Amino acid sequence: MKKQDIQKKYATQKKLLSKYNHHYFNLDSPLISDSEYDKIKNYILKLEKDYSFLKKKDSIQNQIGAPLTKKFKKIKHSTPMLSLSNTFDAEGMKDFINKISNYLNIKKLNFDFSSELKIDGISASLTYEDGILIRGLSRGDGVTGEDILDNLKTIGDIPKKISDTNLPKILEVRGEVYIGKKDFKKLKKNFANPRNAAGGSLRQKDSKETKKIPLKFFAYGFGIINPMPYKSQFEFISKLKKWGFNVNPYNKLLNGIREIEEHHKKMETLRSSLDYDIDGIVYKIDDLSLQRRLGSTSNSPRWATAYKFSSEKATSIIREIIIQVGRTGAITPVAKIEPVTVGGVVVSNATLHNEDEIDRKDIRVGDTIVIQRAGDVIPQVVSVDLKKRKSHSKKYIFPNKCLCGSKIQKEFNTSTNKEDAVRRCTKGYECSFIAKERLKHIVSKEAFNIDGLGKKVIDQFWKLKFIKNPSDIFSLDFDKIKNLDGWGKLSVENLSEAIEKARKISLNRFIYSIGIRHIGQENAKILASFFKSIDQFSNLLKSSQRDEILKNLKDLDGIGETQILSLKNFFSNTKNIEIVKNLILKLNIQNFKEPNTKGKLSNINVMFTGSFKKISRSEAKTLTENLGGKVLGSVSKKLNILVVGDTKPTKKKVDKAKELKVKIFSEKEWYKLLNI
Ligand code: IVH
Repeated sequence: MKKQDIQKKYATQKKLLSKYNHHYFNLDSPLISDSEYDKIKNYILKLEKDYSFLKKKDSIQNQIGAPLTKKFKKIKHSTPMLSLSNTFDAEGMKDFINKISNYLNIKKLNFDFSSELKIDGISASLTYEDGILIRGLSRGDGVTGEDILDNLKTIGDIPKKISDTNLPKILEVRGEVYIGKKDFKKLKKNFANPRNAAGGSLRQKDSKETKKIPLKFFAYGFGIINPMPYKSQFEFISKLKKWGFNVNPYNKLLNGIREIEEHHKKMETLRSSLDYDIDGIVYKIDDLSLQRRLGSTSNSPRWATAYKFSSEKATSIIREIIIQVGRTGAITPVAKIEPVTVGGVVVSNATLHNEDEIDRKDIRVGDTIVIQRAGDVIPQVVSVDLKKRKSHSKKYIFPNKCLCGSKIQKEFNTSTNKEDAVRRCTKGYECSFIAKERLKHIVSKEAFNIDGLGKKVIDQFWKLKFIKNPSDIFSLDFDKIKNLDGWGKLSVENLSEAIEKARKISLNRFIYSIGIRHIGQENAKILASFFKSIDQFSNLLKSSQRDEILKNLKDLDGIGETQILSLKNFFSNTKNIEIVKNLILKLNIQNFKEPNTKGKLSNINVMFTGSFKKISRSEAKTLTENLGGKVLGSVSKKLNILVVGDTKPTKKKVDKAKELKVKIFSEKEWYKLLNI
């Protein structure tokens, strides 16, 4: 290679690395895997080594806050480190409490809550065996964390050894690593905020580097504790203090919504005077036995929520109202506004939700508006300043066509018996706007999860006509990509590797990926457990078998009329069928693996009718599934047990069960069987 070419190559690879660093450190959302990152880094280092003329003072070896190449060992968490649901106002908080009371079937709302400031840092898990710190993990993806014990040990707030009488043999403490605001100001490194600085410092290759950063730690929770003697979150917190952990001084035990609201307002005024960033308050049901009963959904516990502080507001002017088309065809009006800074971020778009919302607020182009941004939520228009409205302003007329030119319409919702507020494009993949959004969904984290193929790249490849249909992802012409601006040989290799890896996909992920309306991750799992293999699922593509299969799906608890109608619509479209077929050909789709819950109810199908005294239907379902049983939605030959609640059981179901000789249990008999 000529000197000039080498210099050029070196510069482009470094530019690429710096982009990945920015996503890893500043945005805390890596674009590529560790091994892909290491490949690029090692390539640059090799160039520096082979060609001395490249060795300048800005060699990546001398970078401070260095890009981290250490591959931390991955370790599975004892129990997943979940995220929290969000609540934004008193109404949301009341809803949260109502849901708890419904789930537990307890007719009271004045539960005790442990209220804890939500520290905006990086969560970590510390495991003590016989009081000795033996493991320290980052959250990672929530299921598997990175072994960052050496780095965590450098934090003064973290006890390396704890002692107490009756200390549980295994004790996993969870909490937040953070940097104080004052300390952050003293740091010379280029991190956007204290949270990113904490994240970056925790993943340093060399723990000596971590030690230089004034990291602190607040403890607030636990993973596994064995044996488990504690009865409430607050009791556990008082133990944490006793063992020498830092526990936030503003933690408080509160009862019911009134105390929560009062405390919330008080803490909001205190927020700016604290030396650490907080973005709300976490409210946790204090009683641990209730927490256990409530359990969690796939992402977050039912017993806790993060009640965010009021969102920040700003004033701006609407330049234009445009529409966006989502993957389900939903048409969302968006206000293009004069750029304005809200909560430290420059905002130039605000969602207007739907036509009704525009009508209700009479939002017009040229209007002066107040917008708000809460957390990661898309900014929205709160109000219009009518006094500032120009006399010639005209009412906004909602378009009657999609961007693709097709008709748009509001659907009739059979469960609410009302027309939907949202208008939708009447086409599917034939609408290029929907098609592009579906591609973005397909490559997303929860679907195929293809590193290096994010939304922006899909936009780029779409424009260049590299990708039109989902199957095109798996036959990309990498030679063409190699020549694009910003793409080097290595990044192309990385992309190709990531795509190869993605070919192997589980049946539930695959079903979720195709983007059928009303089939989210949970429903995709239910369907996958029904179909078991892609061959069985493919029968849905055959019009001769479809109706019969759809009829059978009615038996599945969780799959209702809405989902069945949506599946029917999706597969009645020949273009959809062609697209799914072509995609299947490129993939290696794994059979559904039943979670191995070998419990008392393994291979037993249960159904509930009527309501119970002690627990809610949702809790009954979770209990059954935790013991390996399956909950069905209708009485059929497959049903083994029908549990009949005292209040309003459906006579038809009971009669049919009797006719089919299905075992019938009362609520009491059911608890006896489960030993609860
Ligand atoms: S409880 C399953 N308590 O917030 C319970 N989290 O959005 C999840 N956080 O990942 C954690 N302060 O990083 C809990 N007192 C607190 C917290 C807290 C900060 C962070 C934590 C978590 C995130 C969830």
